[in-house]
Amino acid sequence: MPANLVVGAQWGDEGKAKVIDVMSKDTDIIVRYQGGANAGHTVVVKGKKYIFHLIPSGIIYDNKICVIGNGVVIDPTYFLEEVASLDKEGFDVASRTYISDSAHLLLPFHKMIDAAREGSASKSQKIGTTKRGIGICYADKMMRTGIRVGDLHSQASTKEKLNAILNEKNHELKVLYGLEELKFQDIWDEMYTFYDKWKHRIINTSYYLNEELKEGKRILLEGAQGTGLDADFGTYPFVTSSNPTTGGALIGSGVGYHFLEKVIGISKAYITRVGEGPFPTELLDEEGERLRKLGGEYGSTTGRPRRCGWFDVELLKHAVRVNGMNALALTKIDVLSDYDTIPVAVGYELDGKRLDYFPSQGLERVKPIYKEFPGWKSDICGINDFKKLPKNCQDYITALRGLVGVPVHMISTGPDRDHTIILSM
Ligand code: GDP
Ligand code: IMO
Ligand code: MG
Repeated sequence: MPANLVVGAQWGDEGKAKVIDVMSKDTDIIVRYQGGANAGHTVVVKGKKYIFHLIPSGIIYDNKICVIGNGVVIDPTYFLEEVASLDKEGFDVASRTYISDSAHLLLPFHKMIDAAREGSASKSQKIGTTKRGIGICYADKMMRTGIRVGDLHSQASTKEKLNAILNEKNHELKVLYGLEELKFQDIWDEMYTFYDKWKHRIINTSYYLNEELKEGKRILLEGAQGTGLDADFGTYPFVTSSNPTTGGALIGSGVGYHFLEKVIGISKAYITRVGEGPFPTELLDEEGERLRKLGGEYGSTTGRPRRCGWFDVELLKHAVRVNGMNALALTKIDVLSDYDTIPVAVGYELDGKRLDYFPSQGLERVKPIYKEFPGWKSDICGINDFKKLPKNCQDYITALRGLVGVPVHMISTGPDRDHTIILSM
């Protein structure tokens, strides 16, 4: 049976969790494969809102298994807090969640250094991170000094590792940033409290997932962030420190590539971005404020106002290419209902020349070429039949499908699970 992948096609917050929630119904196992608590994934069911950071969004169905893959960085304290708040809502997370023994632990010094670096960076060097320690933890992973969840099975050697890394980190905290040193015992206790509660759910998730696929189970891979934030294919250095794209989904879950069937790119009917970095179709001043208000565009993790702009075909075509996207899910189309005309960037110009791809450098100098589409000027929130959408709205969707070049699998007309149109592919 197949594995399907939900991947962000823009700069994150595309509405991935909404799509994952809808698709989870026909899935057995939902897997987070990268990122950490920088993600904020919102699901709305019958008006009730849930926001997930580390736990896969599928947990709200009571018969699904959730997996935190090897590619995720886990902040143990944050994780326990999220589990506790879900338990309070009545979700039995512990009996339905597995954690990869190869996922890395994100520890207090990662967060402190992330915040200190951002705090001391000059305006042009600031990334605008979530200050959740993500980049520092992945850097340690690549430096081969990180601590993995499964390491905690062997206490003595893990204590030795922690001691070595803490010596380095304390030096950095004190000398570079003038911060207090951290105590070994505090960090060990934090790690061990997590381990003690979760040791029975720590497994080799790659082995588990591939065996389940062979047995006929259906798997949904849940991306965090998005293509524009990918460390290789995003707007480096204004990116996150993992690969949200398809390659990262395979690496971060250990699912064999031959199982992959649908690669669904999620895109808003416009674009948002939080944090720094180039954004060719960004709307500044009151136009941006208008879209932000209409879309309720404030970060689910940090509460920061999201930068807003028009749909960008080159960014989407880039996402189609690097992800091997074979379907598109278009979200938040209802947000555009108030506009007389809707501009779409159908191409780019750089230094007076037409570009036919999303460039790796110089994006801040790109000039979008816009085409205007007529608006529909009526409330479409909650419509779940394509034929019931106003003609101009249908035409807008059909035009985007043509410009992006992949079939539209799903259209989201509101935040709730029921506000969804599924189209056959
Ligand atoms: P994710 O990180 O990609 O899962 O997206 P977020 O949850 O951070 O942000 C998407 C926001 O848009 C959330 O508040 C969702 O509830 C909301 N949302 C998702 N789809 C729709 C939609 O079709 N219409 C409207 N109005 N809101 C939506
Ligand atoms: P979801 O999964 C939107 C952005 C940050 C910053 C950059 C690097 O909800 O789509 P990091 O803390 O990862 O080192 O920050 O990436 N960012 C996100 N933007 N949605 C997210 O996740 C994001 N996770 C990180 O704002 O620009
Ligand atoms: Mg989000």
